[in-house]
Amino acid sequence: MSPSGPQVVEPAAGEADAVAAQYEAYPYPARDPAEEARRLITGSPSRLLEIRHYLYGGRALPAGFRALVAGGGTGDGTIMLAQQLAHAGVPGAEVVYLDLSAASRAICTARAEARGLSNIRFVQGAIEDLPALALGGFDYVDCCGVLHHLAEPAAGLARLVAVLKPAAGGLGVMVYGQYGRSGVYELQAALRTLGRDLDLPARVRLTKTLLPALPQTNRFARNPVLGDHRRSDAELVDLLLHARDRAYTVPELAALAAGAGLEVAAWIEPLRYDPATYLPAELHARLDDLAADERAALAEALAGNFKTHTLYLARTRTPNPPDDAAIPTWVEWDGAAVAAAVKRDRALAGAFDGLPLRLPLPPRAAAFAELCDGRRSLAEVDAALARRFRDLPDERRRRETVEALRVFGGLNRLLLMRAAA
Ligand SMILES: C[S@@+](CC[C@H](N)C(=O)[O-])C[C@H]1O[C@@H](n2cnc3c(N)ncnc32)[C@H](O)[C@@H]1O
Repeated sequence: MSPSGPQVVEPAAGEADAVAAQYEAYPYPARDPAEEARRLITGSPSRLLEIRHYLYGGRALPAGFRALVAGGGTGDGTIMLAQQLAHAGVPGAEVVYLDLSAASRAICTARAEARGLSNIRFVQGAIEDLPALALGGFDYVDCCGVLHHLAEPAAGLARLVAVLKPAAGGLGVMVYGQYGRSGVYELQAALRTLGRDLDLPARVRLTKTLLPALPQTNRFARNPVLGDHRRSDAELVDLLLHARDRAYTVPELAALAAGAGLEVAAWIEPLRYDPATYLPAELHARLDDLAADERAALAEALAGNFKTHTLYLARTRTPNPPDDAAIPTWVEWDGAAVAAAVKRDRALAGAFDGLPLRLPLPPRAAAFAELCDGRRSLAEVDAALARRFRDLPDERRRRETVEALRVFGGLNRLLLMRAAA
């Protein structure tokens, strides 16, 4: 397998049936509807605030907002979207769940019932059959972890674009990343040989016997990024025994999007796709004349650990600049807690898929974090900072705000909303 070319599992006879049978036997991801009483699973793509920030210029979602979750699986994206839409009170909003798998749909339905959600319509069917399904137009399409399993991802994406309304926001997509999946494809091939005459449950057992015995030099064994297969059999099957999957590099994915007439509105998390994150300061000037997709491709090549790519796509990007009217809003982070951590560490410490990162922040970042309460506009935050730090030159204060937004926003945690007109 060439390290620079696409990693493709060649189509084989009966492959489509094998994909469908896999998700009937092992609905993905493994979920227990009883857990809904305890927590809401959230993530990217498709948090409501992300859809607003990246696809609607920060504005409120339109009344009658319709989202399609294409390949909804056991329901993580569907349940999150439906719950957040219900909570936000978007009038007439509806989520349409579409999946091939009856077993997956049953789990998602039970999760929706456990939450008392009544804003989901369930459809069993294939993305490829969307024209015949006549589901109407959508403002947003979620397609998370699905395109890379289709026989023809470009044709599948075209089907999704075709159901977007003319004024739609766009799509939230996740597909596998090539470099972070180092070792997966040769292990899949080895398992196909070893388990050639076995049914899927027997191949699961075989895989569990093999994994702890892999030679230390095996690329999968040496890949620190991949751990999903330890969580459940469904995840093990998805990673190592899939009937059909492929992985994308950034340029391949950018080409897929362009082929569907789409622009990349955002790579998630933006800071992760910024090569400056991985380069010493003396090399930052080398980035100046690179286009956005070139920067993202460089970040991927440098980091080497992107096992998935999450991105927002739109027919035309809607700008959402950090102007005076923008309202910085924390996403599942608490401004006071962020401020306390920043005061203590004078930086944000964290990790991107096993890569530890320490992100330096400007001196007034803690005060900035605390002032961002989802109500104050950037102009109001700036005025409050000016009152608090009277001796600080205006230009310096504003530069610090830009830098704090670059880090907090780049982590996809501080997003810009706008008040209703
Ligand atoms: C890896 S799961 C992802 C589930 C969910 N989107 C998530 O992220 O948790 C892939 C799902 O896509 C569904 N699927 C695969 N091919 C499909 C197709 N052609 N049309 C509709 N659904 C499909 C499978 O049945 C499975 O439930």
